Amino acid sequence: MIIKQPTETTLHEAFSLLASGNVIGMPTETVYGLAANALDDQAIAKIYACKNRPQFNPLIIHIADLEAAVRIGIFTEDALKLAQAFWPPSERAGSLTLVLSRTKDCPISLLATAGLETIAIRIPNHPVALDLLSQCHMPLAAPSANRSNSISPTSAKDVLESLGDKIPLILDGGPCAVGLESTILDMTTSIPTILRPGGLSIESIEEIIGPIQKQHHNQSIKAPGMMKRHYAPSIPLRLNALDCDLEEALLGFGQTDLPAHLNLSATGDLQEAAANLFRMLKELDNPNFVKIAVMPIPNHGIGLAINDRLSRAAAI
Ligand code: TXA
Ligand code: MG
Repeated sequence: MIIKQPTETTLHEAFSLLASGNVIGMPTETVYGLAANALDDQAIAKIYACKNRPQFNPLIIHIADLEAAVRIGIFTEDALKLAQAFWPPSERAGSLTLVLSRTKDCPISLLATAGLETIAIRIPNHPVALDLLSQCHMPLAAPSANRSNSISPTSAKDVLESLGDKIPLILDGGPCAVGLESTILDMTTSIPTILRPGGLSIESIEEIIGPIQKQHHNQSIKAPGMMKRHYAPSIPLRLNALDCDLEEALLGFGQTDLPAHLNLSATGDLQEAAANLFRMLKELDNPNFVKIAVMPIPNHGIGLAINDRLSRAAAI
C-alpha cells in the first residue's frame, strides 16, 4: 500500500524519495499536492509527466518558513505584512500564495516556474506538510495531485485513484480542511492582483493591505493555470439550477425542497461547501447521470472561489 500514515519512519522515507528525485503525494490544508524537490529539474519534469500538465504552467513552491521564502522571492513591504499575517505560524494562518519577483540567485528550478521572472510561494498550514518541509530542508514544488484538468484531490484516497500507479508514496494527512486551492495574489503589479480566488478570502487580504485588483487584463499569460476550462468533471455542469431533470444529478446548497443527490452544505455554510466541493463533484461524475446541476452558491467570501471553480468546470 503506498498510502502511509505520517510517522518518523515514513517521513524519513518521504525525505529519501524526495532527495533522490522522486515525486510523492503530500497533504496540505487546501488540497493534496504532488511534491518534488524544487531545486531539481528532473524531479520537476516528473511532476509534469505524472500530471500530463502543459509545461508552461508554473508550479507553487512550498517552503517551511519565512527565512526560506526570502531566499527565493523578493518581498515588498505589503508582501511581508501578508506573510506575517497569514502564513504559519501566525494564529490567523490561511491559504495564501504570493507571487513575487525571483531573487537574483534564486536556486529554484526554472522549469518549476516555467521560465517566469516571478515565483509563487506559500507555507502550507498543515502539520504533516510542515514537518516534512522542515525536516527535508528543501523547497517543494507541488501542484494539486491530480491529472491535469480533473478534480483536485482532498484525501489520500483521491490521490491514489488519480495517480496511484505513478508515485511511490502518499503521506496520509486526513481529509483537507479547506478543500480548495490557495488564493494566489500577484505582488509584482503596482496594485496587488488576485490571480486565483481560493481558501483565503479577498476581504481578509484587504484588511491588511487595503484594496487589491480582482483581475488581470491579460490573465492567460500571468496565470496559465487560469485557463477557462479547468477543474472539470467528465459530464457537463449546469450552474445556478433551481430545478432538476430526471437524468441530472443535483448538487444542493443550503436548505432546499429539491431532491438533491448531495448537498454541499445543508446549513448553508460556505466553508463546509468548499471542503465538500471536489469530493461531491467527483461522486456525481458517474455514468448514472448525463449532467450535474448545481444550485446557486452565494458569491461572497469563499463562495467566490467555489463559483470560480464551478464556472471553469462548466465551460465547454
Ligand atoms: O492550494 C494550493 O495552492 C495547491 C496545494 C497543493 O498547495 N497547489 C496548487 O497548485 O493549486 P497548482 O499547480 O494546481 O496551481 C498553481 C497555480 C497555477 O494556476 C499557476 O499558473 C499559478 O499557480 N502560478 C504558479 N506560479 C506562478 C507565477 N509565477 N505567476 C503566476 N501564476 C503562477
Ligand atoms: Mg491544480
